[in-house]
Amino acid sequence: MRDFEKEYDYVPASTKGEWRLPPGLRRALPYYARRKWVNFGEPIPLFEHLHKVFGKIAHYRFLGTTIVFINEPEWINEILVNQAGSFVRERTLKRMKILLGEGLITSDDPIHMRQRRIAAPAFHRQRIAGYADQIVTNAAASAERWSDGQEIDIADEMMQLSLHIVAKTLFDSEVTADVLSVRDEVNTIMGLYNFLVAFPKLESVLHWPIPGVMKFRRSRAKLDALVATMIASRRSLTREELEKRGDLLSMLVAARDEGVAGAEGTGGMSDTQVRDEVLTIFLAGYETVANALTWTWYLLSQNPEAAETMYAEVARVLGDSTATMESFSQLKYTEMVFAESMRLYPPAWAMGRQSTKAVEIGPYRFPPDTHFFFSQYIMQRSPEFWDEPLLFRPERHTAEAKASRPRFVYFPFGGGGRQCIGEGFAWMEGVLSLATIAQRWRLHFVPKHPVVEQARITLRPKFPMMMRVEGAGVQRQTR
Ligand code: HEM
Repeated sequence: MRDFEKEYDYVPASTKGEWRLPPGLRRALPYYARRKWVNFGEPIPLFEHLHKVFGKIAHYRFLGTTIVFINEPEWINEILVNQAGSFVRERTLKRMKILLGEGLITSDDPIHMRQRRIAAPAFHRQRIAGYADQIVTNAAASAERWSDGQEIDIADEMMQLSLHIVAKTLFDSEVTADVLSVRDEVNTIMGLYNFLVAFPKLESVLHWPIPGVMKFRRSRAKLDALVATMIASRRSLTREELEKRGDLLSMLVAARDEGVAGAEGTGGMSDTQVRDEVLTIFLAGYETVANALTWTWYLLSQNPEAAETMYAEVARVLGDSTATMESFSQLKYTEMVFAESMRLYPPAWAMGRQSTKAVEIGPYRFPPDTHFFFSQYIMQRSPEFWDEPLLFRPERHTAEAKASRPRFVYFPFGGGGRQCIGEGFAWMEGVLSLATIAQRWRLHFVPKHPVVEQARITLRPKFPMMMRVEGAGVQRQTR
């Protein structure tokens, strides 16, 4: 970059009245539309550019909003933990209220705090341990459909697998027509999401008689009817029956807010609240894990040494027996492989918050309503924090390495009071699925399509990811 170009494009840190702003882009983002780092559908190149040019912090303007992009772990900690009370979720994500209502992802306190309190027991370690068998059974069923030499699209396979797992654990259903409909309607709505959120006055647009909006309304109505039927079937059960059934939906219907010191409990969730949480968990827990698994298989195919180490661990820990919750805690290298994959390809690739009051972050002071973004993808590939960051090295995630790493250098599940509620579930699902498949098969990448990442709500491969299946050589007994 030549100096005059720098001066023309960038502004240094500045003081405006009581506000101290970091350096950033001189003009609003559309001005740079022809630069190769600006692509309105793909924000990662912009974030990479800002990181490269400005380092820890930069600002830019877009659609009349000032956006601050942060790459400093301590400052991310300020936003997510120390000053969390001065922030709400950033508005782009909150616009998912059109689908998710006031679920955990889209709501703010006090609604969020209450919902989180009620939902938390359903995600406790002992409770999710009960899902280990279902994860393994479904992963084994996926693997048993494949045959030696077959070419499969692993991205599609992992989507199917995580759909089966979410169907079983959330709704206690085999993948019936109902769950497939939930998936199809959610996909239709998410497909329209980018189009819909482009409208500033979204709520009024949702009543317009234009085709995209009408399709959205139809899909949402269908989805609501489906979920309402599932909730109604749980409402007729006693608390004991719900507990016995054990699926997440039953847990949410049975859950009660017992209150906390100084605040009385507020009872259970209404049908609308259960509906919002069910769709939130479905959306948050399905594509994220599927993409994490897909990228893991890709990285293993490119790193044969790590793959061999993982296969050896799976053979040693499992032999020809079926994986269980106990084996999960022994599959340490497999867990490190999954962790390293989420470092390079974090399914949740960025997070955003909006200030509700004046906030001080490092030497800067920002007005209320400033938008902040930070990106797992950028931070977890940053050469300031990672040695040879683009290399796949599971050893970066030993217990000692984790203990010596500053918080928010690695944060695939976010952090603070809104840290992913399904994190324990995701680790278990990831590791047990990898091990169960690795027990039967080795997967070899077939370069039929380019490997291009696409940053949508999750980070996913843009094209099918073909893999050739080869027997792992371990004869297994079926249960
Ligand atoms: C590899 C898989 C997953 C990744 C990478 C992931 C990542 C994340 C991240 C980064 C957040 C925080 C977002 C923010 O604070 O802005 C989050 C929140 C959330 N996740 Fe996950 N997630 C995964 C799997 C799951 C699963 C399996 C479930 C449910 C079964 C789930 C349910 C949720 C919910 C409900 C929230 C909102 C929590 C709150 O705000 O209180 N996630 N997730």
